[in-house]
Amino acid sequence: MKTELLAPRPDAIEKAAGILRAGGLVAIPTETVYGLAANALDGAAVRAIFAAKGRPQDNPLISHIASMDMLGMVTGSVPPQAQRLAEAFWPGPLTMVLPRGAAVAREVCAGLETAAVRMPSHPVAQAVIRAAGVPLAAPSANLSGSPSPTTAADVLADMEGKIPLILDGGACSVGVESTVISLAGAQPVLLRPGYITKEQLEDAMGCAVALSDAVLHKLKDGESAASPGMKYKHYAPKADVTILKGSFDAYKEYMKSHCADGVYALCFTGEEPALPCPCVTYGRADKPDEQAHALFSALRELDARGAKTVFARCPAQEGVAMAVYNRLLRAAAFRVVEV
Ligand code: TXA
Ligand code: MG
Repeated sequence: MKTELLAPRPDAIEKAAGILRAGGLVAIPTETVYGLAANALDGAAVRAIFAAKGRPQDNPLISHIASMDMLGMVTGSVPPQAQRLAEAFWPGPLTMVLPRGAAVAREVCAGLETAAVRMPSHPVAQAVIRAAGVPLAAPSANLSGSPSPTTAADVLADMEGKIPLILDGGACSVGVESTVISLAGAQPVLLRPGYITKEQLEDAMGCAVALSDAVLHKLKDGESAASPGMKYKHYAPKADVTILKGSFDAYKEYMKSHCADGVYALCFTGEEPALPCPCVTYGRADKPDEQAHALFSALRELDARGAKTVFARCPAQEGVAMAVYNRLLRAAAFRVVEV
């Protein structure tokens, strides 16, 4: 199959909508990362997403809507807390897990009785959903396990020959996937940190949000994840990544004694001159927004440059930085060394 890359002009949006209505796949930009979209009401179309990504069948997908009218196609009852979060953060990078609705394809929910839904703010994503007229199931448009794509070129690298169309909306502004919160149980639980922080969610709902264990810790063998996506090794470049936790001075000393062929520093912007080995940066040390925006492209750049061993500076763990740390932990297969 030939993969077309088109600027998101009105005729390209119409073409995308036509492919989606006919059960095909289209990669679309969102404010977080690029998504690999299919009609969320069409089980066969959704199965094609899993095949193109090589995604495990038990990992459910997020359905994307363009207006509150579409919510009922994806979810069943909508509790008042969900209404509050929708008012505060939609359209935007927040996904809610709610009791599932009857219309959404079984494959989207991977056998669960819940469905994940979000209303993206990216104008191209919104235009495609509206033109298609149905909710779009869309995981990140990468091969399962590799870093999520934040540019159309990243999508092409993973999906060329597998899908007919990529809409090129430029670089994604946020750069990490949406915050996922479950409102399906007795207490709200943060399943995946993102640009909307735990504190913001608590403020908007006026109650505490629990943090799922899987966010910052490796699941033990046999332990089940509230969010199935959190159990897989994820976002990983080909190189072995280790996070070094400690001061910049300690990091520098460690790098001096570990510098060798194929060893790279994944450091904060501005730290390069003090380091003895090749560096890839991912934003300034005190700017978690920049780190979120840059992390996935930095991981892809390490692959492009042939890195074999990577030592990463450790981000903070609160606010937006929690999302950065959560992704980096998975890229490093939870290898963290205190220096
Ligand atoms: O920002 C985003 O959310 C991007 C863009 C394209 O919108 N999408 C994305 O999708 O990151 P994906 O499939 O890569 O991640 C979806 C996450 C997974 O961790 C999955 O396990 C979780 O959401 N999830 C989906 N449905 C769920 C459910 N019913 N219960 C618990 N977790 C669910
Ligand atoms: Mg993903």
